[in-house]
Amino acid sequence: MSAGAEVRVLESRPALFEAAVAEFLRITLAAIQGSGRCTVALSGGSTPRSFYSLLADQPDVPWDKMFFFFGDERHVSPDDPDSNFRMASEVLFSRAPIPAEHVFRVPAEIPDAETAAQSYEQTVRQFFTLEEEGLPRFDVILLGMGPDGHTASLFPGTAALHEDERLVTANWVEKFKTWRITLTYPVINNAAEVMFLVAGAEKQEALLAVLQGKSDPETYPAQGVRPEHGRLVWLVDPEAAGPLK
Ligand code: 6PG
Repeated sequence: MSAGAEVRVLESRPALFEAAVAEFLRITLAAIQGSGRCTVALSGGSTPRSFYSLLADQPDVPWDKMFFFFGDERHVSPDDPDSNFRMASEVLFSRAPIPAEHVFRVPAEIPDAETAAQSYEQTVRQFFTLEEEGLPRFDVILLGMGPDGHTASLFPGTAALHEDERLVTANWVEKFKTWRITLTYPVINNAAEVMFLVAGAEKQEALLAVLQGKSDPETYPAQGVRPEHGRLVWLVDPEAAGPLK
């Protein structure tokens, strides 16, 4: 599975975040050099908090040339403690000089999750000036992975795993009894760079299965991330890496 993927096991969790900042800034500067801008899809959850916080402290970041989207969002309002937008606002948007109009959050306060997904899809289409069947090509999509092998809000056994036309979809997650809104595989796999950040012993089993097990994206959705014309890199801390060679 890890064929084509670059897997870097860092020597500690702080080293993981430092490597993530360095890798992200390298990607960002290259994108800006190439096109004059960098389009980013942020991941949510808790692992990225330290990464975003460290990133916000970096000097000389061309924030005004960067545009931030979200790989997924919980179906909650932006001020909800579970909101990925709230998390990113607390540790990144409120601490770095990022123009507010460069941040595109999912309108997850909309009562109907599918309507929220359709609205976000239009936001993405308009920003990337896409034709009807066009796919956006993000310069970098940041992803995490849950202990069950999910990524973004592509959870095992859920409908979104089979969405191969929409850019953004609402996804019912039975185990949480909740809706999520997520980028789909076609968008993720069209990115120029996909960067996984995985930390913690609870990820060990899934990480081994994803990177070295048989292909089974229905069970381990992170396996479905295979950028067709892009680079895939996994940044992993020792606890999550475990026996990974
Ligand atoms: C979310 C994330 C999700 C996350 C994984 C890992 O909305 O929760 O986008 O895909 O990356 O659940 O989360 P942790 O890094 O907090 O373990």
